Amino acid sequence: MIFIILFVLFSYSRSISVFDYCKISNDVYYLTISNIIVIDDVQKISHITKDSICLTNATNGLIFNFRYKKNNLLDLNINLNHLNEINWHIKKSNIIQVLFKSTKGFVLENDSLRIKQKNYTLSISFIEPNLAFYQNKFYIKTCNDIKNLASILNTVNFYLLELNRIVLKRAICPLIFFNSSIRLLLIWPVYDTFYLKNKLVFLDFDMDINSQIRELYINKAIKLKINEEFLNKKVFKNIEKLSLLGFIDVIKENSLSDFTKLNILIFDAENFRFFAHRTSLTFLRSLNTNVNIDPNDFDQIKQHFKQMIKISISFTNFTFINTTFPEVDFCLYKNFPFDRMIFILFDNFPLTRDDNPQITCTAIWLIHKPFFYSIQYDLRKKIENTNFYNSYLSCEFKKKMTLCLSNKNWSKLSGFSRSHVEYICFFLIQVFNLGLIPAVSSIAMTLNWIIFFVISNKYFNMYDWNISYSLYMAFYSW
Ligand SMILES: *[C@@H]1O[C@H](CO)[C@@H](O)[C@H](O)[C@H]1NC(C)=O
Ligand SMILES: *[C@@H]1O[C@H](CO)[C@@H](O)[C@H](O)[C@H]1NC(C)=O
Ligand SMILES: *[C@@H]1O[C@H](CO)[C@@H](O)[C@H](O)[C@H]1NC(C)=O
Ligand SMILES: *[C@@H]1O[C@H](CO)[C@@H](O)[C@H](O)[C@H]1NC(C)=O
Ligand SMILES: *[C@@H]1O[C@H](CO)[C@@H](O)[C@H](O)[C@H]1NC(C)=O
Ligand SMILES: *[C@@H]1O[C@H](CO)[C@@H](O)[C@H](O)[C@H]1NC(C)=O
Ligand SMILES: *[C@@H]1O[C@H](CO)[C@@H](O)[C@H](O)[C@H]1NC(C)=O
Repeated sequence: MIFIILFVLFSYSRSISVFDYCKISNDVYYLTISNIIVIDDVQKISHITKDSICLTNATNGLIFNFRYKKNNLLDLNINLNHLNEINWHIKKSNIIQVLFKSTKGFVLENDSLRIKQKNYTLSISFIEPNLAFYQNKFYIKTCNDIKNLASILNTVNFYLLELNRIVLKRAICPLIFFNSSIRLLLIWPVYDTFYLKNKLVFLDFDMDINSQIRELYINKAIKLKINEEFLNKKVFKNIEKLSLLGFIDVIKENSLSDFTKLNILIFDAENFRFFAHRTSLTFLRSLNTNVNIDPNDFDQIKQHFKQMIKISISFTNFTFINTTFPEVDFCLYKNFPFDRMIFILFDNFPLTRDDNPQITCTAIWLIHKPFFYSIQYDLRKKIENTNFYNSYLSCEFKKKMTLCLSNKNWSKLSGFSRSHVEYICFFLIQVFNLGLIPAVSSIAMTLNWIIFFVISNKYFNMYDWNISYSLYMAFYSW
């Protein structure tokens, strides 16, 4: 803890050292080493000009960092046209990179932004944002409180919207994302436990909100329960790609069913085995329910190629196909829905390469359909020549199938993944911060009072109240 504090103090004192920044005006600074413009007061954006001497050495990675020291409610109607001019001048790019820290809430007013902005795209990171929304100074509690929307969320295109450590007091209205256009929504970490909760929760809402969020990337999830409150069907209606990295507790069976454009799901290899054991992958039942092909007929695969849903497993240097898909798990995957054009792929196992490492029969079973398909359409190769085909034959899947018990109980799999350990550390730090300091001070207070009463009782007959009181005060101040 002390080291962390020292480190923070050290880095803070470094970042404000005179050699590192260039003052553009009051409340606007350029940090030369990190290439960041720090803006403490939104109204002063106009003080930044193209010919600012401070910005002569600014380079491509320029980031605008709003700190909102004075006004903690974030008025999203900042003068983005001006920001765009500066950004274009320095980067020759229309992607504006912006960073906000610890915003206390968002003001969704309707004055300056009325028309869809086409000249620029935002890449915004919010660190510890409090997702509380206000309109005309009123806190928005239900969707009925929203009168007229025109904030950057509705009128500006986002390349990236990053929400890091969300603070959420109540469910948010999906209307906030009305007309929004976001290429990638990144949310991390997402804790969904009894002790810590910082996931997005949406209110129910019937109207279509015309939101275009193409990819949702969840990182460092802990016990995340994916249901309709989280993956709102209106907000994520047009989602194409869903990355779920971390400990996913469950995906409710119908929660993915209405996303007609969803065609790729990404899981991390470290947590996937736990997830598969816990849930038996029941969520797959609600995907591609209208597709039914013969997965051994390559022409049918070709015909329905556009409907394919890829489940991609992402490996790191510390995870291996053999451990995520061990031989003993074969029966868990024996009914994998290839006939609904759902295929599983491993990101470190390129299907067309011949020098891939040997893998377990479970893994061969899972990827054999796309493998054969890709070889079939690679005219230079013949399936019979590949190592993979020989391994496939030696697995004797027909025989393996008959050995599977129909009612095997998969739920027992103990062990920890790294994200779990990280979560426990984070939790302990929270307990330390929130619990230990009050606990220690209340123990100290109690001890003080006990000593006070012991002393005052003992001496009450001999001295008057003032003396014992001053004794107590002397002790207390000491
Ligand atoms: C820009 O870089 C040059 C050369 O490194 C340096 O002499 C000059 O002081 C820098 N200008 C600013 C405003 O930092
Ligand atoms: C928002 O729009 C409504 C109707 O167009 C208008 O009456 C109201 O004054 C606007 N509010 C602000 C803060 O501009
Ligand atoms: C967008 O850019 C075009 C040309 O680059 C310019 O004419 C137009 O005024 C800009 N629009 C806004 C809202 O800045
Ligand atoms: C929402 O987007 C549609 C087109 O996609 C547009 O016609 C409409 O005016 C937008 N609504 C608002 C309030 O910006
Ligand atoms: C993984 O291993 C490769 C080569 O073995 C190395 O280049 C890379 O940096 C490693 N990545 C991590 C995250 O350790
Ligand atoms: C993976 O499993 C296969 C089959 O069980 C085995 O031949 C291969 O050596 C294993 N590879 C590693 C790296 O453990
Ligand atoms: C599987 O095992 C768990 C824990 O041992 C038990 O709670 C559950 O009822 C079992 N399920 C079936 C289908 O046997």
